[in-house]
Amino acid sequence: MLSAVGPPVTVRVPAKINLHLAVGDLRPDGYHDLVTVFQALNLFDEISVVSTHTGRGPVDRIGPGAPGIELLGDVTDAQRADVPLDASNLAWKAAVALAEVAGREPDVRIGLRKSIPVAGGMAGGSADAAGTLLALAALWRLDLGREALMEVAAGVGSDVAFALHGGTALGTGRGENLVPVLSRHTFHWVVALQDHGLSTPAVFGELDRLRATSAADTPVKRVGSVEPVLEAVASGEARSLALLLGNDLQAAAVSMDPGLRRTLRAGVTAGALAGVVSGSGPTCVFLCADGPSAVRVAAELSGAGVCRTVRVAHGPVPGAKVIDGDPARPPRGPGGPPAPDPGPNMYA
Ligand code: C5P
Repeated sequence: MLSAVGPPVTVRVPAKINLHLAVGDLRPDGYHDLVTVFQALNLFDEISVVSTHTGRGPVDRIGPGAPGIELLGDVTDAQRADVPLDASNLAWKAAVALAEVAGREPDVRIGLRKSIPVAGGMAGGSADAAGTLLALAALWRLDLGREALMEVAAGVGSDVAFALHGGTALGTGRGENLVPVLSRHTFHWVVALQDHGLSTPAVFGELDRLRATSAADTPVKRVGSVEPVLEAVASGEARSLALLLGNDLQAAAVSMDPGLRRTLRAGVTAGALAGVVSGSGPTCVFLCADGPSAVRVAAELSGAGVCRTVRVAHGPVPGAKVIDGDPARPPRGPGGPPAPDPGPNMYA
């Protein structure tokens, strides 16, 4: 099939954090209703897809032949251990779901170049699924609107739609119903990564357990209402937002990983305005007054021995974006579109 012959399509997808995460009771379908405010940060995974119908053997960096998934770039031991390369990977589930919609086989190879922590509460797996959807829509030249792609995304996982959407958004339902949030201002964050992950279902389960076993007169604290958070985001005032950061899953993540309490304290001691566990953890994020302050906090926190490594980040940033190989666009170079901004995660 000559039309499928071509270079890989590469998509860049941001990590997310939750500025606010209110968790309702367990639903009969095993999920919890959420009210959450997502923000996309400039930590990116890159997802490349190539058709296995090229008949040309090895193609660029994605490697030869058979349909499947592989890790690209400097692969860490944790990634090797924790990223499944079989049909259980959310990126593969996304490929299968989109192939079904397109009425074709998932005859593709998917390359993941990961910077988002694995099992870190920053939706790395969901980002890979979102990137796969966008990359395959381009590779297969599907005439799908954004809305239709968002619908497929929502069926693949709770955070996949936001990874496509990016920016700042209010999420309800499982987190897949999104409304954009007005946010013209940049917020500066320090992200503290751990050397281990926490399982999202296990953290939700621990919250259910804590709530069921807490005494009636000392219920597990719940975050307040979301409106002030939306106002603080719109105002761009980091100090106002810092007072309102909240995550119902934090108590559960800290119960499973008590060392996180020390991490959260250390960030504030280092000069952050506030810190919160990101999603189901164990990554903690710290809101800082401005960019230079974030650099100072990161330097101090990295010496405090409370996390594996730290990153300075900012948000909001746009959602999944094709950065290379879109067959619908002219190639880069003279006369073509300019090369994308070379962020830290681009191909060398
Ligand atoms: O949808 P996703 O695959 O990301 O969810 C992973 C797990 O996290 C679910 O199986 C469920 O245990 C838990 N979860 C939940 N409520 C949500 C989202 C996720 O209980 N709104």
